[in-house]
Amino acid sequence: MNRTQTTAPVRIGIIGGGLMGRECASALARWFALVDFPVRAELTAVCELDQSRLDWFKQVPTVRLLSTNHHEFLANPGIDVVYAAVPHHLHESIYLDVLRAGKDLFAEKPFGIDLESARRVRDEAAKLGRFVRVSSEFPFFPGVQRVFQLARCGALGRLLEIRAGFHHSSDLDPSKPINWKRQNKFCGEIGVMGDLGLHVAHVPLRLGWRPASLYAQLQKVITQRPDGKGGTAACDTWDNAIIHTNTPIGDYTIPMTIELKRMAPTEMNTWYLEIIGTDRGARFSTKEPKTLWTYRRDKEQVWERSDLGFATIFPTITGAIFEPGFPDILQQMWAAYIAERAGQLGDRFGCATPDEAVASHKWWRAALESHRTQSVVAST
Ligand SMILES: NC(=O)c1ccc[n+]([C@@H]2O[C@H](COP(=O)([O-])OP(=O)(O)OC[C@H]3O[C@@H](n4cnc5c(N)ncnc54)[C@H](O)[C@@H]3O)[C@@H](O)[C@H]2O)c1
Repeated sequence: MNRTQTTAPVRIGIIGGGLMGRECASALARWFALVDFPVRAELTAVCELDQSRLDWFKQVPTVRLLSTNHHEFLANPGIDVVYAAVPHHLHESIYLDVLRAGKDLFAEKPFGIDLESARRVRDEAAKLGRFVRVSSEFPFFPGVQRVFQLARCGALGRLLEIRAGFHHSSDLDPSKPINWKRQNKFCGEIGVMGDLGLHVAHVPLRLGWRPASLYAQLQKVITQRPDGKGGTAACDTWDNAIIHTNTPIGDYTIPMTIELKRMAPTEMNTWYLEIIGTDRGARFSTKEPKTLWTYRRDKEQVWERSDLGFATIFPTITGAIFEPGFPDILQQMWAAYIAERAGQLGDRFGCATPDEAVASHKWWRAALESHRTQSVVAST
């Protein structure tokens, strides 16, 4: 029997019903797709300032509270977990309000607008004993899991290099209007690193890989954009970041290169990870979402390609031959959050932790310093 039908649900509330708030609602709405999942989860409440966005959630039958005030929303006892998906300058204040209201938190990255902000939220959660994890869904692609396992079990031989990145391209269009993600006061001084960085840092951090030092090349390319009201507005965030790190792994220091780009021609949400060793290597990119590439040093040296299908961490009703996409990995990430909160994750891959988010912020802080001084700087 599917146990999801028998237990009381974890009641989830969303603060911020924009792009990601709606994705969360969609992942929870088809919870029944998870097979033999031990805990039920349902969306019960939404807080969103924009009335038309709030009204969208009226079509979700389990939602009982719609609010435009997050204090009123948090006073509601019918919420166990809050998913907060708001602009970065609001992360700290809203996350702290959630924790102090006695709720557990599923936070969005970058988990505070800067390093200090991230530390304050992490420390408050630890003090209050709340369960907190941070959103980062790409590791839940089956291909990424295979890369992770190969790296973790030491099958690759002596590591040669690691390349990880996340590329977008729509900002190349100078007529794309400004939004909060392109303004330092809302997005944070770390710019593209706050936007895309934790997605890329999550797997290396989970493998225990923490760069000791780094050199960063940061670029601001388009500095003015249409403001959507007939004028222009300053676009002052970093667009692209290329970060060259020295990362101690075992007895060696390995070059790990991280590329975070809003301006990578033709790339549309391309997340990739490549880990190369002397014996084997592994590579995954969202460009081929069902595919794992592995390198093997035999008599001949070959790259092999395997189609993995729908081999997700948490089984679903979806047939094994089908291919996973963004909504699927988002639901897998939610399943990991809910399972871990219930003490049922076991040895499966878990969501990014507050400590990992803080560690990633150290990299971005170091990258700013490296670019400013044009030098290699410590990053731990
Ligand atoms: N995990 C991912 O793949 C992913 C993708 C995109 C964005 N994000 C992150 O999600 C967060 C939100 O990004 P988004 O793209 O959904 O932004 P968005 O602008 O689409 O949505 C944010 C929403 O928050 C609402 N809001 C602002 N202040 C509020 C308040 N005080 N109370 C209630 N609602 C409020 C806004 O009205 C807006 O609808 C950011 O931290 C961002 O970095 C994550």
